[in-house]
Amino acid sequence: MAISHVCAQVNPYQYSISKTAEGKNGAVSSAHPLASMVGCEILKAGGNAFDAAIATQLALAVVYPGAGNIGGGGFLVAHTKKGKTITIDYREKAPAASSRNMYLDQNGNPLLEMSQNGHLASGVPGTVAGLFKSHPYGKLSFDKLIQPAIDLAEKGFAITAAEARSLNGSKSAFIKYNTIPPVFVKSTSWKEGDTLIQTELAATLKRIQQEGAKGFYEGETARLIFEEMKRGKGNVSLDDLKNYQAVERPAISFDYKGYTIIGMPMPSSGGLLMQQMMKMIESRNIASMGFHTPASVQLMIEVERRAYADRAEFMGDQDFVRVPVKTLSSKKYLEKRMSDFIPGKATSSDVVKPGNINPESEETTHLSVADAEGNVVSVTTTLNGGYGSKTVVAGAGFLLNNEMDDFSVKPGVPNMFGAVGKEANAIAPGKRMLSSMTPTVVLKNKKPFLVVGTPGGTTIPTSVFQTLVNILEFNQSPLDAVNLPKFHHQWLPDQVAIENDFPSTVQDALSKMGYSFQKRNQIGRTEVIKINWQGKKIKNIEAVADKRGDDHAAAY
Ligand code: DON
Repeated sequence: MAISHVCAQVNPYQYSISKTAEGKNGAVSSAHPLASMVGCEILKAGGNAFDAAIATQLALAVVYPGAGNIGGGGFLVAHTKKGKTITIDYREKAPAASSRNMYLDQNGNPLLEMSQNGHLASGVPGTVAGLFKSHPYGKLSFDKLIQPAIDLAEKGFAITAAEARSLNGSKSAFIKYNTIPPVFVKSTSWKEGDTLIQTELAATLKRIQQEGAKGFYEGETARLIFEEMKRGKGNVSLDDLKNYQAVERPAISFDYKGYTIIGMPMPSSGGLLMQQMMKMIESRNIASMGFHTPASVQLMIEVERRAYADRAEFMGDQDFVRVPVKTLSSKKYLEKRMSDFIPGKATSSDVVKPGNINPESEETTHLSVADAEGNVVSVTTTLNGGYGSKTVVAGAGFLLNNEMDDFSVKPGVPNMFGAVGKEANAIAPGKRMLSSMTPTVVLKNKKPFLVVGTPGGTTIPTSVFQTLVNILEFNQSPLDAVNLPKFHHQWLPDQVAIENDFPSTVQDALSKMGYSFQKRNQIGRTEVIKINWQGKKIKNIEAVADKRGDDHAAAY
């Protein structure tokens, strides 16, 4: 495995993938080599972690169109060199014209095709507003941060084998969900090394470069989005775009055995689920049970089950509903929650309506960034499913999200990730749909120690949970913590999802306890940065990129 000690200069036509990187001055780990390299170059050019996160996200919007985006939304969790914790919510919002039952037919049956594909599936995009909200924490001009993305879109870049497969696999969807065929559709098949040029996207990025957030939310880009909506009977309006605001929110922050774990509050369930799960295992000495033993895996499954049951019932956008966060995270409540846990025996989920998880859709993306000054930034951003709604804004060259499916379209009806919800996550105009995204920062002795996150829909919190437990309790290296097989339970459906290489001996032992299983090709694509300190100085920064995709770590 290649270990890069330098942050290589970006050559968009020839590049290789590195899964680990180490440096003293900064590191970026993201889903694509070109995006990580762009971020690293920005660090080298004097930018800080916020600058690098912005440039990396914009590059991902070009080189990783399946999930990188300007037509979606995301969350940023950061900790600054001055000790300040920041979270930025740039989650999409339901358009003003949306309504609670908009995805139900006359008989009240769900119309999931409409919440998951095409124009009506899109929430109002938040990404560009989020980038500008985080920019004041950076040091370089936005102009400079967006230029690499413009170059990549305008001059093109060589696509990877995985990207070629993915574009070919989505060809019929691109044709179906677009009134004007986008650049991703061509007559012959895509193959590794083909150059993807996105002229219209470059023009959109230039409007953002020249006009700031208005270059997206107003003027020509907004007009193109609105025209696209009219053609495809979507309902994002010019006012929706103009009114969109990203929001800074107070982080979820809790102590775990002396570490401070910082996560995203509502409308992401990620931070609270993490707090619930970590706190439910804290007193149970999981380290003594050992990694991937029936006992430790069972304990983790059972805390996952309990946390996800709470997610379905209580969690949603706190701007619209009251979420009992204090109770759900209190010691007393969590102790009570675990009072029916029986080691060696599966607890049963009350089966309301078992969900069908769509294993094809693993297309959100995470980036972890650290700089030499001690700033760390953890960002997860998404279009929701792979290529979002599959609808490209004609003339503007970017994909729109299908985030509306993250709402509960009807109580108890599973979304594309099998997640069920109720009132708390019902659709309302201007409301943000509940997310599972879990960008996370861990502090040790008040200094940044880990930057973690992953895509994976509802498997996101459980993957971050396992990664943290692997490092903090089982003393694993970040590389092992990321790459060793993962498992996942989300209350409903009442089954444990496991990766194909999950140890069969553990599976057999758990089957005997009453668990059933569903195999998955992969769970998540986790990016971890670990910062090692020597007193008040950074000794080195280790970056790890998940083995499961084109993910790439860069450092210098
Ligand atoms: O916000 C959420 O929870 C989802 N929209 C995330 C989707 C996702 O992670 C897709 N695949 N990896």
